[in-house]
Amino acid sequence: MKTQTQACLAMTALLVLAPLGRGDIAAVRQRLLMDSGWRFKLGDPADAGNIFEYPEPGSLDKTRPGDLAEMAKLVPTRQDPVALNLGANVSYVQPPFDAQAWRQFDLPHDWVVELPFSGHDVSHGRKGIDPKKGTNIGWYRRTFDLPATDKNKTLWLEFDGIYRNSLIWLNGHCLGRHISGYSSFKLDITNHANFGGQNTLVVRVDATRNEGWFYEGGGIYRHVWLVKTDPVHVAHWGTYVTSTVNDADADVAIQTQLQNNSTQTVSATLLSSILDADGRIVTGSEPAMAALEPGKEQTISQKMKVKSPHLWSVETPYLYKLVTTIKRDTTVADVYETPFGIRTLRFDPNQGFFLNGKHVYVKGTCNHQDHAGVGSALPDRIQYFRIEKLKEMGSNAYRTSHNPPTPELLDACDRLGMLVMDENRQMDDTPETLGQLERLIRRDRNHPSIIIWSLGNEEFQIQGNDDIGSRIARVMQDLVHKLDPTRPVTVAMNGAWGRGFSRVIDVMGFNYFVQGNMDKFHNEFPSKPCIGSEEASTLCTRGAYANDPKACFMSAYDDNAPKWGSTTEKWWKYYLARPWVAGAFVWTGFDYRGEPTPYNDAFSSQFGIMDTCGFPKDNFYFYQAWWSDKTVLHLLPHWNWPGKEGQEIDVRCFSNCDEVELLLNGQSLGRQTMPLNSHLAWKVKYAPGSLVAKGFKGGKEIASTEVATTGAPAGIKLSPDRAIINADGEDVSIVTVAVVDAQGRIVPVASDEVSFAVTGGGRIIGVGNGHPNTQESDKLPKRTVFNGLAQVIVQSTKQPASIILKATSPQLQAAELTIESKSCTPRPSVP
Ligand code: GAL
Repeated sequence: MKTQTQACLAMTALLVLAPLGRGDIAAVRQRLLMDSGWRFKLGDPADAGNIFEYPEPGSLDKTRPGDLAEMAKLVPTRQDPVALNLGANVSYVQPPFDAQAWRQFDLPHDWVVELPFSGHDVSHGRKGIDPKKGTNIGWYRRTFDLPATDKNKTLWLEFDGIYRNSLIWLNGHCLGRHISGYSSFKLDITNHANFGGQNTLVVRVDATRNEGWFYEGGGIYRHVWLVKTDPVHVAHWGTYVTSTVNDADADVAIQTQLQNNSTQTVSATLLSSILDADGRIVTGSEPAMAALEPGKEQTISQKMKVKSPHLWSVETPYLYKLVTTIKRDTTVADVYETPFGIRTLRFDPNQGFFLNGKHVYVKGTCNHQDHAGVGSALPDRIQYFRIEKLKEMGSNAYRTSHNPPTPELLDACDRLGMLVMDENRQMDDTPETLGQLERLIRRDRNHPSIIIWSLGNEEFQIQGNDDIGSRIARVMQDLVHKLDPTRPVTVAMNGAWGRGFSRVIDVMGFNYFVQGNMDKFHNEFPSKPCIGSEEASTLCTRGAYANDPKACFMSAYDDNAPKWGSTTEKWWKYYLARPWVAGAFVWTGFDYRGEPTPYNDAFSSQFGIMDTCGFPKDNFYFYQAWWSDKTVLHLLPHWNWPGKEGQEIDVRCFSNCDEVELLLNGQSLGRQTMPLNSHLAWKVKYAPGSLVAKGFKGGKEIASTEVATTGAPAGIKLSPDRAIINADGEDVSIVTVAVVDAQGRIVPVASDEVSFAVTGGGRIIGVGNGHPNTQESDKLPKRTVFNGLAQVIVQSTKQPASIILKATSPQLQAAELTIESKSCTPRPSVP
């Protein structure tokens, strides 16, 4: 006899999935990528006058106690762009306007990274935005056809993120304004769409203002989607899956928000099925019936059991898929998919963080979103590349400092197994900010990787304020709890520990142990779990071994940090001595543009464990030694010191071997015991040749590494992260460009300029070298290598091809690399 669940499962399969193939799913709901074929122009047209002005407070990055009153005064001075149909008479908005002369390209796009560097605006990365030249405003236009058969559907646009203050028009009608440069939003276009003909979408982006104190870019720098559904459908971000795990089973609870945009009451049936990672049905719900009133939403709760679930974890990031089917009478109206994971989490005030009941030490990094060559407009593959690098280092957690990330970053974390602290940008309790927070939680709450929400960062003007500060934290946290009761809330605080926010929030977030007394806090709030929301800010330049203010270099020896930060070894030991803290997030995993510290003449920060390209600095190996299970044996510095013969060189070793022996040109310089969570050091009289380290465990040699004096630069070596990519017009190969000597060894001091050319399909979308103080263009097809290395990012087109990348430099043997761009099925997109 069948059990009830089995019967239900069989019925669901029969009713829902069996008759539906991929094509059927596409027939009821389409989510089409709308990245291709945009036209772009900088600056407002003369006929815009100043009609788009939007009054905002003097400073957007931090909230000051007086800001709320100031904001309240500004609100009535703002125009409602939709009610006024703002901009309808402006030339660029008019559908017949001829934009053929505008630049054409595909999204994602950051126009700021294309501009020359400016001499000022140090903190924001010297972005060359200049209102006098109109480089603060960008206009985007795109036309698309809609078939007449779409007429009875509901259509909306999804913008994953535009930096910032955007106005959007369809066919000359203003659809709305979106302020935040970081939150995702949707705009319904059903009423203004032209079915059976051409549609014109226009977006004006105003990147004049800074929301943060770091490089923020400008433009439609994340994806745009066109969604078409039946009027009866799962609402935008309309599913929420949670689970509890009991012994061998998981109880999965599902909330589904159904939307009826039709003019009649509809009797709808909701079926939910859970599929495993191989696409097999695991379980299905009983059909839930609902009478959906016209123009209304209704939320339906369902429960299901998953037997012996595969739990999502850092090591095995197992993803299930919820398939939601809505039937309108007997026809399928919508099929909607929600990837999710089953796992438990708990923060303990004395023991830290637990995932699936197992203690997991949070070994995290904070990161901004830009990457060399592309600014803030990262193709999805670069998100995966960056998470892979962090995982290779042994990191298991990522803080999306200091703003909502792009959804693809979270997909990468879900799929690769990276815990996430998902952070909101601003902290206040205005409708705008609470709206941003709500969008963040609704969009992201099904991602198993997210273990904690962060309301904000270092709001030093209000964080210790027991009146306004506490109220703001309480209102924001209550909203998060309402939308997602399964995860705790924190705020990153750089002081006032014990006051204001910290009395309210679920988990205390310490920014830098030197900025307060963590032990005192723990004693006074023994039942509050704690995490190091930010630590380190260690300063290092890749491949530089002395501080050099003129060149803006910080030595890579792990010796330098600003007064609020600490060296890598120092913070790590401090935290290890306090196991009640759940772990910490290092500032930062990657260098980012802006915030050059301590040398204001530079262009990028140097806090990263990796540079802006993702090339490891030496500290990468310190973390890898103590964070990962790999055997690590890393020597620094390089061994090219002509002119220093006979002088003492500071040689250090990062390793997790028990003992390390150092040899110079075959002569032993001694064997030392590796102190736990530390490093070894030797003073070595320089002689060119070969410096070798041998690593021992249990007395047995288990590893060795060599740093050799190289010859002069002789050639170029090109190494792709992947030599085969998809011909979908989105995928990229991230190519390391190394200048090598005659024996093929990377010359660690090389600074040759290398030029690139691609033939056979493909395009170069950006170059970089991780130099903190360069004004070289991210976009021209040439770059000097910095300390031997540069990066070139090659993107496929939709034409399968062998992409040939050629690299040349006047004094060097040229190199050639073939990247195979293989035929694939690109994501469904708007033609
Ligand atoms: C922190 C801040 C970060 C960054 C960092 C640099 O205080 O939260 O955004 O500015 O300092 O060390």
